[in-house]
Amino acid sequence: MNAAAQFESVTQVFGDFTAVDDIDLTIPAGKLTTLLGPSGCGKTTSLRMLAGYTRPTSGRILIDGVDATRMPPEKRGLGMVFQSYALFPHMTVAENVAYGLKLRGTGRKERDARVAESLQLVGLGHLAARKPRALSGGQQQRVALARAIAIRPKLLLLDEPLSNLDARLRVQMRAEIRRIQHETGLTVVLVTHDQDEALEMSDEMVLMRAGRIMQQGAPADVFSAPANRFVADFLGYENFVSTADGLVTVRPEHVVLVPGETSAAEGLALPGTVRDIAYRGVDILTTVEVPDGSEAILLRSHVRAEEAPRLTPGQAVTVTARPRHLIALTD
Ligand SMILES: Nc1ncnc2c1ncn2[C@@H]1O[C@H](COP(=O)(O)OP(=O)(O)OP(=O)(O)O)[C@@H](O)[C@H]1O
Ligand SMILES: [Mg+2]
Repeated sequence: MNAAAQFESVTQVFGDFTAVDDIDLTIPAGKLTTLLGPSGCGKTTSLRMLAGYTRPTSGRILIDGVDATRMPPEKRGLGMVFQSYALFPHMTVAENVAYGLKLRGTGRKERDARVAESLQLVGLGHLAARKPRALSGGQQQRVALARAIAIRPKLLLLDEPLSNLDARLRVQMRAEIRRIQHETGLTVVLVTHDQDEALEMSDEMVLMRAGRIMQQGAPADVFSAPANRFVADFLGYENFVSTADGLVTVRPEHVVLVPGETSAAEGLALPGTVRDIAYRGVDILTTVEVPDGSEAILLRSHVRAEEAPRLTPGQAVTVTARPRHLIALTD
């Protein structure tokens, strides 16, 4: 794997609080990597260290194999889009996009060409002469993206760039950013706390918690084999069950409810009581209460209506799942 950037034992301490705790991370070149995790886990801090706005307390950051730990931001050749993408209101779209190029002393002709190329890439060539206030939120977002791309950055850093957009536009922009990444072959690092966004957009996904990396890998690999309960929880797994072999999880789509008591030679077979049945047309979501020591846990089954047995609340059932659908977790 060709690395565009690397974190080596990087720590960031603010006062007596450790925001990033000894992380090692490789950002593959020409791919889209997401940093995913709950609020406060250190995503923005990591990105800011990579961009050079914050210096690590300890550890090294390499860009293109060169130690960049002490390099100022403007020397790193990175493009960045923040959550609040702040376009200059008095400048036209084209002037906004040209801004970074002007700062770098790019000549007029080259500048015009790059502005046109960048705006074309984000589908806004026809709006070059407009002012930002005459654009929709999604269009403004694209201008910010074009502005970052225009400088032909080694790395494009995006910190929650879609969080200001409404749900539909957000989904559209996910596809847009992926397309742009494919067409340009840019290395992109995107910060998000939305697991759907990360799963859909990433080549490589990095899950963080409390300043540490919990798991890194291709979305399908992480999703099919979450390393621990935190990762599983974050990716929307439900149904955590303690078994003789330790903690396991099983997706609701893989839970089959059998009326009455049955025993299975393999896999999961837990006696329980139906608590709730949510009929949703094509599928049915059923919640079952299963005794667990002196307490009870709720397990969920989510199957196609035509495959679901007819059940009623209060009915005794067995919660079953095949061995291959049980995922072992460390706590
Ligand atoms: N300059 C600072 N001084 C003190 N604490 C800071 C500073 N910057 C960040 N922190 C703390 O470090 C932790 C990580 O912050 P960071 O902004 O990296 O989180 P995040 O993962 O980006 O969260 P969010 O999803 O909410 O943006 C937080 O607890 C935050 O309060
Ligand atoms: Mg943040």
